[in-house]
Amino acid sequence: MKIILITGPIAAGKTTYAIRLASELSAIRFSIDAWMTTLFSEDNLENDFLAIMARVDRCHNQIWSVALQALDKNLSVILDLGFTTVEQRSKFINLALSLGITPELHYLQLSPKARWQRVVQRNNDKHPDVFFFEISQEMFDFMEPKFEPPILTECDNFKIIDASSC
Ligand SMILES: Nc1ncnc2c1ncn2[C@@H]1O[C@H](COP(=O)(O)OP(=O)(O)O)[C@@H](O)[C@H]1O
Ligand SMILES: [Mg+2]
Repeated sequence: MKIILITGPIAAGKTTYAIRLASELSAIRFSIDAWMTTLFSEDNLENDFLAIMARVDRCHNQIWSVALQALDKNLSVILDLGFTTVEQRSKFINLALSLGITPELHYLQLSPKARWQRVVQRNNDKHPDVFFFEISQEMFDFMEPKFEPPILTECDNFKIIDASSC
């Protein structure tokens, strides 16, 4: 039974990777964009970063309560929750540890140029598995400095993944 946190910047391929992993491990996957879009897309919060992050936090709490039910039934969980900040990651790492489970942290790395190409591709394809809202160049540039790359000591089970070839 595993708890796997997926982290990485915009369009590194986190959700695509999480879908594959969930299939391989027969795990339950939680992807934050789906939750945020279903719950809040009609609230027009695009320009209010703090309001968005507050809602992401509330989603995280509810997702964890469902994840606990899955874990209770011996199902692994894949947390594709964005995890932009050290704080968000450490909260979930500690929640896992409190259950006696050492979580895995998978960090998908890809250059900004390659990720921008993936944004454009996703905006065009609009594939329902991974596309939830259009990302503009302005949003991409705004989000770039918000991502805090994980450091080795954050998690005992830390895996860096070259997202150009996964
Ligand atoms: N390994 C890959 N090779 C090529 N394209 C990929 C790969 N992984 C994801 N993509 C594409 O890149 C875009 C962004 O992927 P996505 O999984 O939505 O990223 P994230 O969840 O990190 O924002 C999508 O259009 C997806 O189909
Ligand atoms: Mg995603």
